[in-house]
Amino acid sequence: MDKLVIEGGRKLSGSVRVSGAKNACLPILAATLLTEEECVIKNVPDLKDVETMLNILSALGREVRRSPGEVRILSGKVNNVTASYELVSTMRASIAVLGPLLAKYGKAKVSFPGGCVIGQRPIDLHLKGLRALGADIRVEGGYLLAEAERLTARRIYLGGHFGSSVLATANILMAAVLAEGETIIENAACEPELLDLANFLISLGARIEGKGTPTIKIKGVSSLSGTTYSVIPDRIEAGTYMIAAVATGGRIFLESASCEHNAALIDKLEEAGGVVEEHSNGLDVYRSQPNIGSIDITTLTYPGFPTDLQAQMMTLLCISEGISVITEKVYPNRFIHISELNRMGAEIILEGATAIIKGVSRLKGAPVMASDLRASAALVLAALVAQGRTEISRIYHLDRGYEDLEEKLIALGANIERKKDSKKTNQLTG
Ligand code: EPZ
Repeated sequence: MDKLVIEGGRKLSGSVRVSGAKNACLPILAATLLTEEECVIKNVPDLKDVETMLNILSALGREVRRSPGEVRILSGKVNNVTASYELVSTMRASIAVLGPLLAKYGKAKVSFPGGCVIGQRPIDLHLKGLRALGADIRVEGGYLLAEAERLTARRIYLGGHFGSSVLATANILMAAVLAEGETIIENAACEPELLDLANFLISLGARIEGKGTPTIKIKGVSSLSGTTYSVIPDRIEAGTYMIAAVATGGRIFLESASCEHNAALIDKLEEAGGVVEEHSNGLDVYRSQPNIGSIDITTLTYPGFPTDLQAQMMTLLCISEGISVITEKVYPNRFIHISELNRMGAEIILEGATAIIKGVSRLKGAPVMASDLRASAALVLAALVAQGRTEISRIYHLDRGYEDLEEKLIALGANIERKKDSKKTNQLTG
């Protein structure tokens, strides 16, 4: 396994290209199963999760050609409908092949996705929506066995205990494009990545109204064509670098980022003393004052503050003045980063799904362990602002969602190096 070694205390300045959105390209790649014609997807980031999705498509029998920034899914049929435990267990987003396989081939066998450190990750809304469209789905031997002669349109309410669901909306949206009649999804998730998926589906010939809103109408069609499509920039990667600029006191220009998809973060960064200037080709981000102000954040579904930037903002607030509060309404247990940040001198206590952060003047470098994608990003930010040396182990979590992370940070002036990790790190307990 690798580790990252970071000497902190340097301001990050310069320009960084924002890669294609991981959480848009994963469902879009799954959606290519809805057509047997060739699809060319551009602006695809070089990530472990993308590789996993491509392995799943190949395992289903589709021919995949990968070149820098681009994926070509050649025309052809699947020759089996099983997404195996080995592949699905490494990436929850694999569940997004369920809807397309059912819609196109009338059956699917997908390993039941596991939970992870951020939460139990149920799929009740996925099953509710697909069953409403007429699918027969049962669980056997850890697999979802799904069948449907022909999916038929329904009005489906997709609100759950924590509000809307991104991948459940994606699954039902993809299934409905080939269903008989007009499907209406209510309380659909509105994340920009789903708008991107809807635009991709429309480019295949799907008929969708209300994309990106809580109510989506889909008129089923009998078949879909191929397409060439470019994925939107990654707002969570962009947000992570925006927070890095404010946290280190530097100045970063984010090429191809826009305010449009990051309004909630920008609002909170400005409240904390950051400045975000919008230009035609990107965002210029820096800190307007010597100190970082303390703020309160509650994560919500889009357009609320994104849960995927909660850990990174917690790092920023560790070095703010005063007391800040973060309440997690999407994944109430998404706080595994707190213990590692406290090892670096942060003063954070957790009360249920609310973290109380008492700002300290400096964090101090220490050996820490990455645990999930965004918690790992929070540890990188902490290492960048800390005094001294930090070693972050188990960084394969980072490779799942941040393209060329070290290269981009080195170009911004960070002192960061990837090394082989000879130490055997204990499994995170709890
Ligand atoms: C997507 O996961 C993202 N992943 C996650 O990003 C992101 O954190 C999440 O949306 C929320 O924005 C991808 O898009 C690949 P949800 P998803 O279903 O769709 C509950 C990252 O770091 N729920 O919107 O799996 C669920 O437990 C990853 O890039 C149900 O109750 O998340 C959670 O509390 C991490 N029943 C809430 O809804 C269901 O059937 C939102 O989850 C499904 C979800």
